[in-house]
Amino acid sequence: MDRIRIRGGAPLHGSIPISGAKNAALPLMIASLLTDETLELGNVPRLADISSLLRIMSNFGVDHTIAGRRPGQTTETGQTIRLTSRAVIDTCAPYELVSTMRASFWVIAPLLARFGHAKVSMPGGCAIGTRPVDLLIMALARLGATIEIDGGYVIGTAPKGLKGAEIDFPKVTVGGTHVALMAATLADGVTVIRNAAREPEVADLAACLVKMGAKIEGAGTSEIVVTGVSRLGGASHDVLPDRIETGTYAMAVAMTGGDVVLENTRPELLQFALDVLQQSGTEVTPTFGGVRIRRNGNGIQSVDVTTDPFPGFPTDLQAQFMALMTRANGTSRIRETIFENRFMHVQELARLGAQIRLDGDSAYVEGVAGLKGAPVMATDLRASVSLVIAGLVADGETTINRVYHLDRGFEALEAKLARCGAEIERLRG
Ligand code: UD1
Repeated sequence: MDRIRIRGGAPLHGSIPISGAKNAALPLMIASLLTDETLELGNVPRLADISSLLRIMSNFGVDHTIAGRRPGQTTETGQTIRLTSRAVIDTCAPYELVSTMRASFWVIAPLLARFGHAKVSMPGGCAIGTRPVDLLIMALARLGATIEIDGGYVIGTAPKGLKGAEIDFPKVTVGGTHVALMAATLADGVTVIRNAAREPEVADLAACLVKMGAKIEGAGTSEIVVTGVSRLGGASHDVLPDRIETGTYAMAVAMTGGDVVLENTRPELLQFALDVLQQSGTEVTPTFGGVRIRRNGNGIQSVDVTTDPFPGFPTDLQAQFMALMTRANGTSRIRETIFENRFMHVQELARLGAQIRLDGDSAYVEGVAGLKGAPVMATDLRASVSLVIAGLVADGETTINRVYHLDRGFEALEAKLARCGAEIERLRG
């Protein structure tokens, strides 16, 4: 298994191109199941999760092509994938495939909406809490599907098609909103989704669905209204920039000090997190097509944060911010409200010398003067990258094992950091 070796201490200087958002690309790919025409997606990141989903969709009979590079394009431009779900031969997503990635469960929505039946294994994905799918099932049932759970599979049927309905989510769920939105586009009549997730990835999915012919209003707000149509067509859409990748590199620069321009991204996608970084003593300046992150000389100030649905502080940046706070002046309280078990990085950060105390949903991080390199183990996607951020300032050598977690969500991580001066390399094996 590959490992990543980092020798800490080098400040970061230069520029980092930000990839398309994994969490938008996955639902967009799944949306291609809603039409028999071709959906062309640009700026798709090169990630293991994207390949896993392509494998699952190939199993259904979906054809895909990955466009070759055009003149002037570099590996930094993102790839263009064309998906055509004309001859769907199977509507079953088996355990072996779905268990590797939670988002693949969402295929249940377009399959049910277009074909009237779907059988999808209960999901797996990062081990960050119980992560149920009851609200996704509730949304489909509200739209008139009959749902049965049998042998670890969710089996949905709607032989006469789905019907528009009112869906009130008792809590904000990104997955639930994606599922409700996709299913409602082909339902008969009007669907109102209340307490909808306002994450930019939901608005991006809606924008693409509208290009495909869907009638959607209010995406990006907490009430979305969808008027069903009888069919959707092909479209061409570019995936929005990855706000979590943007925030991760911003925190890496805040940690090491230095001056880096994050390119092809939009600061407003992560305004809350960037405001928090500013409070910690980092300079954040929007640029044309990106954001410049600088910390020179001054120390890191402790800041308290609580994770919240968008536009709050994202749970997907919690681990990275905790890594930064391990070197702050003072104690920071980090409260996790989205997932109950998302603190697996704490014990690994402690191996590097971090002082962190857990109490219920909160971690109290007492800043220390220095971290010391050590072998550590990646436990989930965002936790792994928090170890990279800590390793970038730790004295000596840090090796991170189980790098496959990182490959699920960070495109060319070592190359992007190395071009800014980090001493980081992948050890194959
Ligand atoms: C969540 C995050 C998303 C992040 C992703 C991966 C939020 C609101 N969502 O999305 O930003 O990118 O994890 O880390 O921050 N829930 C239920 N029943 C359900 C579905 C969800 O109780 O059927 C609960 C979850 O346990 C969780 C909350 O609702 O406490 C939000 O879950 P949800 O947004 O659906 O999770 P993801 O879509 O995985």
